[in-house]
Amino acid sequence: MIKIAPSILSADFADMGREVADIDACGADMIHCDVMDGTFVPNISFGAQMIRAIRPHTKKPLDVHLMVQAPERCIDLFADAGADFLTVHMEATPHPHRVLQMIRKRGVKAGIVFNPGTAPDALPYMLDLTDMVLLMSVNPGYGGQAFIPSVLEKVRAVRKMIGERDILLEVDGGVNAQNAPLLREAGANVLVAGSSVFASADRAEAIRILRG
Ligand code: DX5
Ligand code: ZN
Repeated sequence: MIKIAPSILSADFADMGREVADIDACGADMIHCDVMDGTFVPNISFGAQMIRAIRPHTKKPLDVHLMVQAPERCIDLFADAGADFLTVHMEATPHPHRVLQMIRKRGVKAGIVFNPGTAPDALPYMLDLTDMVLLMSVNPGYGGQAFIPSVLEKVRAVRKMIGERDILLEVDGGVNAQNAPLLREAGANVLVAGSSVFASADRAEAIRILRG
């Protein structure tokens, strides 16, 4: 079963409550929330207050992608705000294992993220603490970038590492109707889509096509 997680980074920020309700009604399985701190990535998007603000507008899980340096500082903040998933970057902390423990301790699902240039070698040592693996198919920081095809091989490799475990495998960046079938075939089961869903005249149809 493939899940589609539209990224609200591509939504109308002046009308976020309605955008979230709309994407929910259009069939989104989760709402992907891109938190950017201006340090780990050059862009600044929004913080925990946005998560708290959109929480009443959907019952779907909030998939909070922390593009934040030293995410251990803000796990409680985002757990309190209503995140269902918190994903942290391998590159953003020397203690990814400890951060995953912190997230789980708060009763939130824990995810580890790998940038396009980061090998997933360390993943086997964190699988027991991981509910989701997120593989970036663009360098994080902006929506609307071109998909990096080398992630397909990484998806296949991580799918093998996960084996029969109940762990979601998510891909984020430049996902569209052309590459979605390749990603599904490689073993991804959560597809994030910003521009390809929000810019579509028929968002429900765009989500259906990505799901396959
Ligand atoms: C990139 C973000 C993505 C982004 C995806 O830094 O993590 O979630 O919003 O947007 P598209 O689908 O437009 O590449
Ligand atoms: Zn993201």
